[in-house]
Amino acid sequence: MKPTFDIVVAHDANLGIGINNKLAWHLPEDMSFFKQLTMGDGLEKKYNIVIMGRKTYESIPDAFRPLSNRLNIILTQLGYDEDHEDVRVASSVDEALLQAWKLVQLGEANNIYCIGGKSIYEKMIAYEGCRYLYVTYLDSVYNCDAFFPSYEDMFTLVERSDMKKSKNGMSYQFKLFQSNILT
Ligand SMILES: NC(=O)c1ccc[n+]([C@@H]2O[C@H](COP(=O)([O-])OP(=O)(O)OC[C@H]3O[C@@H](n4cnc5c(N)ncnc54)[C@H](OP(=O)(O)O)[C@@H]3O)[C@@H](O)[C@H]2O)c1
Repeated sequence: MKPTFDIVVAHDANLGIGINNKLAWHLPEDMSFFKQLTMGDGLEKKYNIVIMGRKTYESIPDAFRPLSNRLNIILTQLGYDEDHEDVRVASSVDEALLQAWKLVQLGEANNIYCIGGKSIYEKMIAYEGCRYLYVTYLDSVYNCDAFFPSYEDMFTLVERSDMKKSKNGMSYQFKLFQSNILT
């Protein structure tokens, strides 16, 4: 059985996802959604696993990294010195998925999430094991230098929330897309 995983992303109306190695917006409701989804409900004593590129890992403020109660797998070809029980390093997407999948099969981990950034989304969205995209859609165009790949031909919208208004005035919507391979 091949590893399966889901992608979590927030993108704007132009598929923009960030600028200068940071998010291009501050949307607290998306942060809460991301935390709840990737951390799980905490009822099971099993980890979820988040796979991310080295630059995304480094963009997380010190106080919040590694992301707590999740196994953080950092993709890097240069190596990364991070001595923490919740961190592993992998030098390829296949290696990261193999590490993660072993833990799922051993019953030690639940779900595997790919959480970016741009270079990792581009690679992992093309994997057969990519089942769902959890998209937070921001209904504006922000100044971005990193973009999510176009995905409408490969995925089908299966759920969406109403358009919501953030307390800081931003309009956004939660959407769930399923891989066409699964349908
Ligand atoms: N809106 C969102 O939901 C969201 C989520 C996450 C990130 N972002 C944004 O995305 C942007 C960062 O994207 P990015 O593409 O510049 O950086 P990235 O994907 O986070 O990290 C790139 C690094 O990952 C490593 N890497 C990439 N492909 C690899 C592979 N196949 N095998 C092993 N290692 C690999 C390399 O690290 P080494 O150089 O160490 O070899 C590479 O420099 C930022 O603006 C960030 O804010 C947005």
